[in-house]
Amino acid sequence: MVLGRFVDRLVGSERLYVFEELYIVPGRAPVDPDKVRLETRFSRSIRLGIPVASAPMDMVTGVEMAVALALRGGIGVLHRNCSREEQVEMARRVKEHPPVPLTGLRLSPVEPACRALGELRAAGVRDAPVVDSAGRVLGYVRLSSLRGCCREGRSVGECVEPGEVYLLGEAGEAMRVLERGGRDTAAVVSSTGYYLGTIVFDAVFEELSPVLDEDGRLRVAAAISPFDMERARMLDGVVDALVSDVAHFHNDNVLRAAARLAKEVSADFIAGNIGTAAAARDVASIIERVDGFRVGIGGGSICVTAQVAGAFAPTPWAVAQVRDALEELGMGDVPVIADGGIRTPADAVKSLALGASCVMLGYVLAGTDEASAPLIRIGGRAYKPYRGMASRGALEKRFAADRYSRIVKRMPEGIEGLVEYKGPVSRVLAEFVEGLKAGIGYAGASSIPELWEKAVLGRAPPRGERGLILSI
Ligand code: XMP
Repeated sequence: MVLGRFVDRLVGSERLYVFEELYIVPGRAPVDPDKVRLETRFSRSIRLGIPVASAPMDMVTGVEMAVALALRGGIGVLHRNCSREEQVEMARRVKEHPPVPLTGLRLSPVEPACRALGELRAAGVRDAPVVDSAGRVLGYVRLSSLRGCCREGRSVGECVEPGEVYLLGEAGEAMRVLERGGRDTAAVVSSTGYYLGTIVFDAVFEELSPVLDEDGRLRVAAAISPFDMERARMLDGVVDALVSDVAHFHNDNVLRAAARLAKEVSADFIAGNIGTAAAARDVASIIERVDGFRVGIGGGSICVTAQVAGAFAPTPWAVAQVRDALEELGMGDVPVIADGGIRTPADAVKSLALGASCVMLGYVLAGTDEASAPLIRIGGRAYKPYRGMASRGALEKRFAADRYSRIVKRMPEGIEGLVEYKGPVSRVLAEFVEGLKAGIGYAGASSIPELWEKAVLGRAPPRGERGLILSI
């Protein structure tokens, strides 16, 4: 067990510690929370605006989640529970997406003008593109002309005016047109003229700071198995980082395979999951190039590894162990990604304070509009499925079944369930970011690097157990 500047913050701690028993000791805040800066890194060469990555799970990260995160300063890690071709296609779609949000706001030419009027009012826009059932953009309708059309009982198709449509690469031009204020929406089409989405000018825009590659495209990462060289080769050159997706990376066969793979690819290579300082040292000695570490074993909300196998490297403990080992090895600049069990911004702040550069989120992002799971309604309430990648359901698809060993295992180490529908991921992220800023401020820091220097953590029984308020 290493003792170093992060582990030392938990004086006298010999035992594994979990998020619930850790607290940030309040320090002198140099700035107000809104001035706290969240810039960080995901891997050696990928800079982020916020310390958030999505977990490569088939109910969380597909194209929509990866786009939404990259637009807002984070990064998505595409899941691998699909064929190689499907995963490459997802990555291409993220790369082809303009660095502005596309919505599905459009009207059909056959719908009554009165209904369309209500839709535009609800969306808070003055116009919208009109798209026929074959995906062709017929033009735009304006709120002002819809009013007259509604009175006359006409349909949307009878009120269409011509207007510009934009190719994906022309999103910047579309934005400039919208900024001039003449209209609120711009339709984006494929090279064959097929409707892809609508850019809506609203306040959200000004807050976006997309994470872009050298060519101005959204950054994206993809999960791989170290044993699947073919998949890694196909994704290399499309994605910015390849993220190892095995439960126990500290395994001789995995290490050997990963060493070969990391040599072959040019994208950043992220090793994981590991949970101890010893694992970090072994990875560093066996694999020539590692650009980041995914850290935490058995702590995920859907994990039953600790129950099934008895193994557990809780995320906060594992992060501190690994970060100290890396500093000892002179690899302090290699980012640590805290992965598993992060349910609140508080857990994320604790992870960052213990040496992580960013956090990986499954549960927090599951249940959002952009999570790649269907919406389910039960008794008037809405939910989305969420499952571990080693749950029975996920293993049935088999593509990610080698997560736990090269030889596919049958014993599930994950569970399946439903999470409450949470609305758009933009809302979830906005709240999360606010919590992060507050937490970093309480710790007495104004940025993540300053948090590493200044944070002090203490241990106390989980507050939830005290039952402070009794309802009468
Ligand atoms: P959260 O807590 O954010 O955790 O939902 C997401 C992380 O959990 C890991 N993961 C699993 N761990 N069995 C496990 O033991 C599983 O079936 C499983 N699926 C995902 C993974 O590290 C993910 O990022």
